[in-house]
Formats: sequence, structure tokens, C-alpha cells
Amino acid sequence: MKPTVAPFPATRLRRMRQSPALRAMMRENTVTPDDLIWPVFVMAGEDDETPVASMPGVVRRTVDRIAQAAVEAQSLGIPAICIFPYTGMEARTEDCAEAWNPDNLTNRAIRAIKDVAPDIAVMTDIALDPYNINGHDGFVEDGEIVNDRTVEALVKMGLAQAEAGADILGPSDMMDGRIGALRTALESEGHQNVTILSYTAKYASAFYGPFRDAVGASAALKGDKNTYQMNPGNSDEALRLVERDLMEGADMVMVKPGMPYLDICRRVKDSFGVPTFAYQVSGEYAMIQAAAQNGWLDHDKVMMESLMSFKRAGCDGVLTYFAPAAARLMQG
Ligand code: PBG
Repeated sequence: MKPTVAPFPATRLRRMRQSPALRAMMRENTVTPDDLIWPVFVMAGEDDETPVASMPGVVRRTVDRIAQAAVEAQSLGIPAICIFPYTGMEARTEDCAEAWNPDNLTNRAIRAIKDVAPDIAVMTDIALDPYNINGHDGFVEDGEIVNDRTVEALVKMGLAQAEAGADILGPSDMMDGRIGALRTALESEGHQNVTILSYTAKYASAFYGPFRDAVGASAALKGDKNTYQMNPGNSDEALRLVERDLMEGADMVMVKPGMPYLDICRRVKDSFGVPTFAYQVSGEYAMIQAAAQNGWLDHDKVMMESLMSFKRAGCDGVLTYFAPAAARLMQG
């Protein structure tokens, strides 16, 4: 649709920008706490937290502190929290068995949140990297990241999370066939109402650097993730992946990273009209925090403007480490 613009001076677009009232009437997009999913890092121990050096303002929390954070999120009107584990070196093995341990950090955190903040939707991450001795999202055999055996393990991992009470499963591994396998298993095990937010268009990005520090995977990772994550040069492939994941039973899809891939968000939303999310990843957060700490950018304004960009690009919501700060700001 082409917008109609009468010639000047019949049209003076500044007329509608002249006062706060007219600007408010003209606003096309809004950000509210409803749009936010808050990623948090859980670690072993009790009543403790440690800062993540490359993500100023972000901490790893023990399970009890995660529960407190969920209560805070609930009071701020944040609808969902997403759990990532910082696994001790001893629990990282070649067979990744800790990934489907019903008492691993993630599953304990799910139950702890459900006990104290039942209104919050709990999202998880499904991938083997926090449990894998070599830092990859899948099993490695003779230097190859193998697909089908990995999918079987991811299904076990997802079922354990559903069993613990997760509302939203987030497969972030980029193996082929994992959404269908997971959906089939959820249906047959009585978890018909567990939703899947697929990391559908996940790019092999250097913007994940600080996250890999946060979960302790940087040192472990051997090689790169280019054989399973997407090539940053691709756009049409994202639409094929979205179509594939929807056919396999995904309820929601995600584009990741966020700000450098807003064009993909818009294409996905326009092409499919399905619930579309973006992940404003660790590197995006770190860039803004670093510039703000130097006094180069206005933290609050840039944070909110960055969140608005996702709404404008067609996203229904965004995973962001800014979630509590943004929600607090919006609460006033
Ligand atoms: C693990 C996973 C990653 C992120 C979310 N899940 C890292 C990776 O794929 O290497 C990145 C999140 C961020 O950078 O904030 N599969």
C-alpha cells in the first residue's frame, strides 16, 4: 500500500508532530512490559550471585535468588522469564547426561519459580552446549556435529523441562527435525499444552560472545557453530526455516540476534503472521551498556529506543537482558 501524500502545503507532516498530544495520537508502535522476556543465568550454591564481567548489570544467581528474581519480574509485569544454566566443569561430559537430569540447575529453577511466582511463564533453552565438554550444541563424533542422535537427546532434555513445569520450551540448537520430534514426544507424554518457541532463524553470530562467558562455554568451545547456525548473509533461508518449524509444530518463532537482523523479523512477520520474537542478545546488550558507562549514550533512552525497534519490525516481543530495567522505567 502506497501512503497518500498531497502536495505541500496541503500536507505538512510536521503538523502532527507539534505537540505531545498529537504525537501520542500518531504513535504507531508501543513497548509495554508485556513485550518482554527476561533471560536469567542460574548457578549452583545458595543465596549468592556473581557478576558477568562482559555484561555489566547482569549476574548469575543461585536457584533461591532466581526465585526472588521471578517474584520481582512478576511485580514488574514481565510475563516470562527464560533460564540459562551455568554448569560446573564436572557436569560437562561427552554424553551430556546432565542435560536431562530432572534435578539439574534449570529444572530446579523451574520448580522454584513455579512455587513462588505461578503467574510467570517459564521458558527454557534446549541445546547441549552448557553440558557438553566441547561447548557445542550437539554431540561431536569424529569432529562432526551429528544431527539425529543430538535430536534424541534434545527430546529427553525438553521432556525433563516440561516435567519440571516449563511453559515454553526454547530449542536453540538449530538441529534439523528437532521441533517435530519434540512436539511428538510432548503429545505422547501428556504435555499437550507446553508451547515451543523455536529459535528458528538463529545466525552464527559473534554477538553471542558475552553470553558464552556468562554460561562458561567460551573456553570450552572448540571451533565454530557454522555447520548448524545460519550464515549471516542469508535471508530467504530464514523463511524456509520458519515454514519448516511451523509445519513441525512450533507455536512461536524467533530471530536471533535482534538489532542486526530486524530485516529478518519484518520478513518473517509479513510472510507468516505468526507470533514472532527476537532475541536482543548479549553482545547487543554489552554494546549499549559499555557506551552508556562511558557517558557516550543515554542509557535509558537508547534502551527504550532499541526495544521499540523490535516492535516496529513486527515482533510480538523480545528476549532482553534489559527487561527488569525497562519494566521499572515504564512503571515510573
Ligand atoms: C546456546 C545459546 C546461545 C545463546 C542462547 N542460547 C549461544 C550460542 O548459540 O552459542 C546466546 C544468547 C546471547 O548471546 O545472549 N545454544
